Amino acid sequence: MDAKVAIVDEIAAVCLESAEQWRWIREPLTPGRAQAWLLQHSLRNLWFSSILRPAWMSRCPDQAIVRKTISQMLEEIVHDPNLGYPHTKLMRELGGHIGLSEEQFIHAEPTWQTDLWFNVNENLCRTRHWIVGWLATSLEEFVLLEPGFNVLDDGRWQADLGLTEKQLYFLTYHQVADMEHAGKKVWKPMRSHVTNDEIKADVMKGLHTALQINKIFYDGVAELGDRLDAQGASIPKPK
Ligand SMILES: [Fe+2]
Ligand SMILES: [Fe+2]
Repeated sequence: MDAKVAIVDEIAAVCLESAEQWRWIREPLTPGRAQAWLLQHSLRNLWFSSILRPAWMSRCPDQAIVRKTISQMLEEIVHDPNLGYPHTKLMRELGGHIGLSEEQFIHAEPTWQTDLWFNVNENLCRTRHWIVGWLATSLEEFVLLEPGFNVLDDGRWQADLGLTEKQLYFLTYHQVADMEHAGKKVWKPMRSHVTNDEIKADVMKGLHTALQINKIFYDGVAELGDRLDAQGASIPKPK
């Protein structure tokens, strides 16, 4: 198959194959694991838009991709016009529903795995082909929408944690928002930039590193979650 035509499908398939190994997504959800994910993700939410996306965008020659990514960053941390506030606020609201305080978000510390995740991603975004950076900062938005990997798929946030539909608005809203942030359709414009087999090989190699470090990130989330559970993490009763 033509390298240009195949690349987006190939990327999607490689991402899903790797995500089979992401423990937090595949294993049962507990109060501690829900809290651990949101705390660690809150750190990444800021790093994505303040450090990682600007790092690869500074080398991206495609103005449409740059504009789209900047508008995504705006939604994430400054203002989503559909909501009237940024996704950060929505994330902290979900945090409140699963027993996390504002203080815990403010003082959240990365696990060693999250720290590794950040350092590897920063290097990918600063020094590798800009498409590697684009993928590294969007691949999870794709994975988490896919059947079998979608965090809302099996209803465990409701069934296992007792959360209501209303409390899960952060997650349901993101299902729609993330369709515009990642995936086969969003990534399509990269086809005109992968002009030879050498670039393709470089992109696939960088993607492999980004996926490996995600596996490590999710191992860290699972471990932290288990520690929080051992300390008695619990979900407050809906008001
Ligand atoms: Fe978001
Ligand atoms: Fe997103």
